Amino acid sequence: MKDLQITAIIKVYQYDELNADDQKLIKTAMEATARSYAPYSHFSVGAAALLNNGTIVTGTNQENAAYPSGLCAERTTLFYANSQYPDQAVKALAVAAKTEKGFIQTPIPPCGACRQVILETEKRYGQPIRILLYGKECIYEVKSISDLLPLSFDASAMEE
Ligand code: THU
Repeated sequence: MKDLQITAIIKVYQYDELNADDQKLIKTAMEATARSYAPYSHFSVGAAALLNNGTIVTGTNQENAAYPSGLCAERTTLFYANSQYPDQAVKALAVAAKTEKGFIQTPIPPCGACRQVILETEKRYGQPIRILLYGKECIYEVKSISDLLPLSFDASAMEE
């Protein structure tokens, strides 16, 4: 028996330590939260995806009275980006979330299904997606979804 140790590298920033481009992407995700449709959870999530051609695409969580029919902001954003710009890889994705009390303190952790969809987007374009997770206290940055989704399942497993 042996242990398999997995290491994730998560950089922790204060907002004013980020460069102007990253600040802009986060601000865009924060502004998007105003367009969330979250009448059930009152948890408004916004995401902003920066594409290779410089375009920024935003999305928000879209809830439904039949709860599982809703979708998270990250997936809304990536599916929209990939639908509108199928030839453009996603370079970076920023996410922000607020309750009725305001933006959350700790960086918003994407759900498992969103992590899987981010992984699929990386694989589809063969390019890592830098992820910026906003919290009032600090911002987490990872260079790729591999730091948030270790031992991930992708199409290569089916080719073995
Ligand atoms: N949600 C997101 O949009 N992204 C996340 O990373 C976590 C959760 C949404 C789904 C649902 O509309 C609400 O937040 C509460 O779970």
